[in-house]
This record gives sequence, structure tokens and C-alpha cells, in this order.
Amino acid sequence: MEVTTDELRMLIKEGKKLGLTEDFFFKGMLLVSKAKVLTQKDVDRLDNMTNRKIDIKMTEETDSLVSPKVKKAMNHEILNHLKNHIYYNKLKDDKRDEVGRIIDNLFPHSDYPSYALQHIYGFSKKLYTHSIHVAIIALIIDLTWQKEHNNGLIDSMRLENILFGALLHDVGYLTIDKKYWAGKRMDKDFQDPNLRSHPSRGYELLIRDQGKHCFNPEVLNIVHHHEERVDQSGFPTGLSETKIGSSSQIVGLANEFEHLLNNELTYSVSYLEMCRYFMSRKSAYNKNCLDILCEEFKGLD
Ligand SMILES: [Fe+2]
Repeated sequence: MEVTTDELRMLIKEGKKLGLTEDFFFKGMLLVSKAKVLTQKDVDRLDNMTNRKIDIKMTEETDSLVSPKVKKAMNHEILNHLKNHIYYNKLKDDKRDEVGRIIDNLFPHSDYPSYALQHIYGFSKKLYTHSIHVAIIALIIDLTWQKEHNNGLIDSMRLENILFGALLHDVGYLTIDKKYWAGKRMDKDFQDPNLRSHPSRGYELLIRDQGKHCFNPEVLNIVHHHEERVDQSGFPTGLSETKIGSSSQIVGLANEFEHLLNNELTYSVSYLEMCRYFMSRKSAYNKNCLDILCEEFKGLD
């Protein structure tokens, strides 16, 4: 595909691994090889030498985290979850297309979600299923949230960050004993420091690899802040509403909703029960996000 140098800078900043389709020569000298994964410095060089659009391709990452076979199987598995998801199937065509496109786009851009989900699956199938359900619910809420806040426009990058962040939101559990994840959320003691630390642990896991994977700050914030609540009752920090990004608020709400449905997205919880549950905790959530959730999922009955 052909892009301007500004577009190329943006793509690299987003963590895309890109290369040139042809070697770039200047006065007979090889300036940038097509075998190289492009950096911002390369773009600066190209910028000085050409005004034309640049033909680029996704690179084959030599230090791939996950084998192409596993990645393909994982991708297939996630798409299967998506296609069999009752709420996804209830979406109107345009929303369903948008969600499908975001899912399709995420995995070719980054090895990390497949890599992390593979480990989450090995740790607990229940946590793996939970992570995928939360991601789908969060995308559904955000599609409406964005239409209301962006003059009807959809920012695909934001949706992709929400999908990425929601899939990995509980990755911190991988660093603590399995018993903290097992069981129902309502029976857990969230004063336990191990449980309270899982968002920070997840954040630290990602930060450790930040140099290699260039995670978008929004993805990091979602993992770190998905248990924060707007009335400062959340953890690990007890942030106030203005300090919790809207993407993190949406993933936090989707997380709670998924737990409410007892990890089985069936109709076992009625719409009335869901509303009662959230009304009793309404100060913990952004009102607009809560209204969208109630509206989007009123088909529970
Ligand atoms: Fe969590």
C-alpha cells in the first residue's frame, strides 16, 4: 500500500511492523533496505529524499512470538467465539461489519494478542472465554459511545485499542496463584492484596515488553485501570472519574457485566435483574456508559 511519510510515522507509532516493497537508493547508495523493519529514523531519511508516496508492506517478523500455525488457530478460535456470540448476532449489519473488521485487523498487526491469549488459555479456559466476551461487550458499548461523542464518526484505532486492552485486561492474573481467578467474583475478597494487584501486574507485564511491542498507551491504561470506578471505590489506586479514560471505564463496565452473566452469555440473567444490579452500584460507573449498556442489552428478556 502507498502512504505518505506522515501516515507512515503514525503507523510505526501504533506499533505496526512495516517494510519497503523495494530497496530505496539515493545517488546509487542503498539508503533503506526492503529487508529492514522501518523505524522513525528511516522515515526521517525518506522524508528528506522524496516527496512521493511510499510503497510499504507488513513485514514478516523474524522474532515472532507465536508460530503462524498457533496464531492462525487462535485467530480462528476468537472469530468463532465472535460469530457464535448471541449479542454479536443481534447487532445491526453496519455494527456487525465494523466489529468484524476490527477483529480481522488486530491480529495481522500484532503477534502479542495471540501470544498472550495462548498463555491465558493455558492458565484457565474460563479466563480466556471471559476475556473474549468482555472484548465483544466493550466493542458493542463503544460503538454507540463513539457515535454519541464523535458526531456519528467511528475511530477505528480507538476500537482496536479497546479490543486489544479488553482481551488482555486480566493478563495480570497469570502472575498470581490460579485460586485467585477461580470462583465467582461476588465471593472474592477484593481487599486481598493479591487480587488488588492484578491490574498493576498486568500493566507491568506489558511495560516490560513495551520497547519491543510499542503498546498504545490506551491499551496500557485499560489493563491498569479496568478495576477503577468513577466514585473512587476501585483499585489498585482509587482513581477519580477524570483520571480514568473512557475506554478503561467501558472495559471495566463490560468486565462487571460479563461477571454478572456468570461467564455464560445466556439469558439466565433477566434485563430487570441486570438493571437492578447496576442501579444499586450506579455511582461506580459513568452514567452515559451505563445507559448505553442498558439500552444495547435490553434484549436479555
Ligand atoms: Fe480484572
